[in-house]
Amino acid sequence: MEFYLKASLKTSADPAAGKEVIAKIMAEAEQGILSKGAPAGEGAKIKSWGLGDNRIDVELTSGRYVRVHDAAMRLKKALAEGLGKTFKIGIRSIDAEVFTITVASDRDLKNKKIPYVKSVDFKDGQLILTLEVGEAEMRNQVPDRILTLIEDKLEQGDYGAKAEHWNLLWESADKEFLYTNDPTEDMLKKGWLKRGSSRGQWIHGSVSTRLFRMFEQIVFDEILVPLGYDEMIFPKMVMWDVWKHSGHAKGIYPEIYYVCPPKTRDPEYWEDVMDYYKVTHEVPVEMLKDKIGDPIGGMCYAQCPPGWGFFQGETIATESFPILVFDRSGTSHRYESGGIHGIERVDEFHRIELVWLGTKEQVVETTQKLHERYMHIFNDLLDLKWRKAWVTPWFMAQEGIAGVAADEVTGTTDYEAPLPYRGKDGEWLEFQNVSINGEKYPNGFNVKSQSGEKLWSGCSGVGLERWTAVFLAQHGLDPEKWPPEVQKRFGGMPKQVKFL
Ligand code: SER
Ligand code: ZN
Repeated sequence: MEFYLKASLKTSADPAAGKEVIAKIMAEAEQGILSKGAPAGEGAKIKSWGLGDNRIDVELTSGRYVRVHDAAMRLKKALAEGLGKTFKIGIRSIDAEVFTITVASDRDLKNKKIPYVKSVDFKDGQLILTLEVGEAEMRNQVPDRILTLIEDKLEQGDYGAKAEHWNLLWESADKEFLYTNDPTEDMLKKGWLKRGSSRGQWIHGSVSTRLFRMFEQIVFDEILVPLGYDEMIFPKMVMWDVWKHSGHAKGIYPEIYYVCPPKTRDPEYWEDVMDYYKVTHEVPVEMLKDKIGDPIGGMCYAQCPPGWGFFQGETIATESFPILVFDRSGTSHRYESGGIHGIERVDEFHRIELVWLGTKEQVVETTQKLHERYMHIFNDLLDLKWRKAWVTPWFMAQEGIAGVAADEVTGTTDYEAPLPYRGKDGEWLEFQNVSINGEKYPNGFNVKSQSGEKLWSGCSGVGLERWTAVFLAQHGLDPEKWPPEVQKRFGGMPKQVKFL
């Protein structure tokens, strides 16, 4: 890996007068300012330098340490000091005339449009990126981010685009299933629900709604109340700012439902749209495109990120830890893969999101308690066949990164269950998760503790559609065949609307 920069430092006067000073700075730089902070011999190197018309030209090369753009800044500072005092010559700017990054690679990255990258060439096992950057970009570490991006792309290719990590942690005993239908089909036949007008959206009638609420009540009775979680209300429109802090801005674009505000709420501005509709009975979508603003964000996706605004920038008192909260104030939305799916794969879904925050020990202990409570619910109350697996942390997956966290404590446990109608070898459905998110969120949202100890956090998403899909797929739709504890809590069938 090599950085190369041919830079021109613009001077406020002819630099010739200070030639000796410049020569001395250049001669001493490699051993001095250009190696500071780097392992021995791994600092930046000066390949050549020379003086021109109101400019000092320099060619720099480097590896990972004291990268060429950083080296150019250091030289600028030293030269400004050296020339300013005696010769009253200032350095106005650094122009990057040629800036390349060369990375070993086994393949080309054809047709990739990367900001500030003019061209990408592939030759003899090397990718050569030619950058077009100014001093501001060099100061703001744009070249470093480009290198990271390229390295990520090359590494991701090794995994195969979205290969997720999966490692079995626990599995319940085998069970015989008496019901093997697709529950969504049967629910439709019984009039429990209907398709909404949007893709992957359902209108739940009284029965499935009562099921959702019963599951919610189980979570209240068995987890939230005994473990002392308090309810909060997290926003459901998520602005870019939140997703920048949470990391989602790196990767969720293909799955966002975007939110655009009107350019103005002046009715006169909208009159032509209203008139068009009144005359044609069609909504003029093309016309709307001009009249709405740029997307300001998207609809709730992962549920916990917008809640962090509450803690952002704060130092929290020791007595408040561990903070245990949950949100169930609205829907989450994902642009799912196409095709018609049942209630288990939807674009609009309902979830209780639990979030906990404290020291590492508090977060790990809270997580263990949660796993125990879930185990009790799925074994003793819902009587499910299920398993737990250690997977790519949800926040990495949503940023488009494969693999697992380095520390083996941070990570996501997926809860999965078989759907008997899909056959013995059918894919298991993830119906909820529990995660230790490490320092990611307190760091991302700049949250500190009174004691100065590092803060950790965790979260768990209880997907009500997913619980319902798994429960009904394994137990069927007849309440009399449900486990006694569920029958009791369900409390009998609600009234259903009769359609003629
Ligand atoms: N926020 C986590 C997720 O989106 C848990 O719900 O998976
Ligand atoms: Zn979460």
